[in-house]
Amino acid sequence: MKILKDFNFQMSSKSTNIVWHQTSVSRQEIANKRGHKSAILWFTGLSGSGKSTLANAVNAELFRRGFGSYVLDGDNMRHGLCQDLGFSDSDREENIRRIGEVAKLFLDSGIIVLTAFVSPFRADRNKARELVEEGDFIEIYCAAGLKICEDRDTKGLYAKARSGEVKDFTGISSPYEEPKDAEMKIDTGSLDLDQCVQEIINQLSKRNII
Ligand code: ADX
Repeated sequence: MKILKDFNFQMSSKSTNIVWHQTSVSRQEIANKRGHKSAILWFTGLSGSGKSTLANAVNAELFRRGFGSYVLDGDNMRHGLCQDLGFSDSDREENIRRIGEVAKLFLDSGIIVLTAFVSPFRADRNKARELVEEGDFIEIYCAAGLKICEDRDTKGLYAKARSGEVKDFTGISSPYEEPKDAEMKIDTGSLDLDQCVQEIINQLSKRNII
């Protein structure tokens, strides 16, 4: 982990003589025009807990209602922006750092961005939270437990992790740190998808985001 931190430090200190340019259109102006605010909906939970399914279902409902939203999905981002990263603790840290920064850009653009990453480490999730103002980051813990996720084993990865074919697998051979103060905890192990979507839509409306 230390090596990566040093590497990050070098990376962030490589650019000198750079100036931050303010955007010409503020978030407030975008919100006024579009009729909704932006936010980061940060889904976290074990592999197979339903993060991507739920984030995509919420995204579809937001679209149906005419709101601007977009899903950043762990598996998808690892095909491109994060294709150089594996599943060591330090690679996961860097993965979440990048996603936190990208999510912040989406927030700035007036979009409701939904991120679906295991994001197993509390410290990394909190760093992403700290990039933005209070209220802009809504952590949603998809709380389906290990047994349920392993029984589902939709991608066959738990079986491979048990046999040792897949290393550092979250919940089996790599830790998952449950959120302590998530804005929402959703029992994706027992509720049906529509109920979960409704809970999140209600929360967005309660917070005056939509
Ligand atoms: S994170 O830990 O860095 O947040 P991320 O969400 O991007 O992980 O990727 C997790 C997805 O990658 C899982 O849903 C699963 O499909 C796949 N995967 C492959 N290997 C592993 C592993 N060792 N641990 C967890 N997920 C893995």
